Amino acid sequence: MILIKLGGSVITDKRTYRTFNRDVALRLCREIKDSGKDVVIVHGAGSFGHVAAKAYELQKGRIRDDQIDGIVLVSRDTRELNALVVSALTEAGIPSVSVPTGSCFIMDDGVLVIGNTEIVRGYADLGIVPVMMGDVVLDRKRGFGICSGDAIMKCLADIFRPDKVVFVSDVDGLYDRDPKIERDAKIITNVNDDVLAAIPPETTVADVTGGVHAKMRAMLEMCSDGRECILVNGTVDGRLRSLLAGEEVVCTRARK
Ligand code: IPE
Repeated sequence: MILIKLGGSVITDKRTYRTFNRDVALRLCREIKDSGKDVVIVHGAGSFGHVAAKAYELQKGRIRDDQIDGIVLVSRDTRELNALVVSALTEAGIPSVSVPTGSCFIMDDGVLVIGNTEIVRGYADLGIVPVMMGDVVLDRKRGFGICSGDAIMKCLADIFRPDKVVFVSDVDGLYDRDPKIERDAKIITNVNDDVLAAIPPETTVADVTGGVHAKMRAMLEMCSDGRECILVNGTVDGRLRSLLAGEEVVCTRARK
């Protein structure tokens, strides 16, 4: 089984509030379908989540009264995006069902708790792909918080023990310096803890849930028993398909 996260930077236009990149999402779903692999899908919130979550500071938990409006807004928008992703998967021929993170699971002091694994396991056992997403989630200590798709990936990796974990993003991989600022930045094809420690984190991160460096750290935590975690650019036509077919592609592979 392969656990795949479709990043919000690929399936939405992160600069414009609530813009779904339908063509890209559908192409990626078809590339997944063509691989013939069993998958579980998570997706990011992109411009359906980060813009409003940041404005209302939802990642900080309960700090002011008007955050209620923010919770309502972000929950509505992430569910809408989730429905669009499920539609794209269905159109590509992958039977899937929405499992909205904030409606099914809870956080405890910022950590996602999937106490009851029956829901996600049950759908997967039926041959239906459960689709979870980065979301606003109730928190036992903080009232509420933001749960990233990356945090969900970690929980699902523990539950499903996938052979491979793939993060589909809009970058070719992790670079030794910020490629948006430094022209001669080089891609790092293989990452371990030591390699990551030597790379400076991005100086500017617009998201409420961190950038590529934070993602790589989360990916390394998911590597166990020889499991590989891969960051691949989904904006390039066919690259995910080639990766899933076992071909060599431009990407960053994290290994313990
Ligand atoms: C963000 O999830 C969740 C919200 C802001 C509600 P992610 O951090 O996984 O989303 P992307 O992939 O960066 O867009």
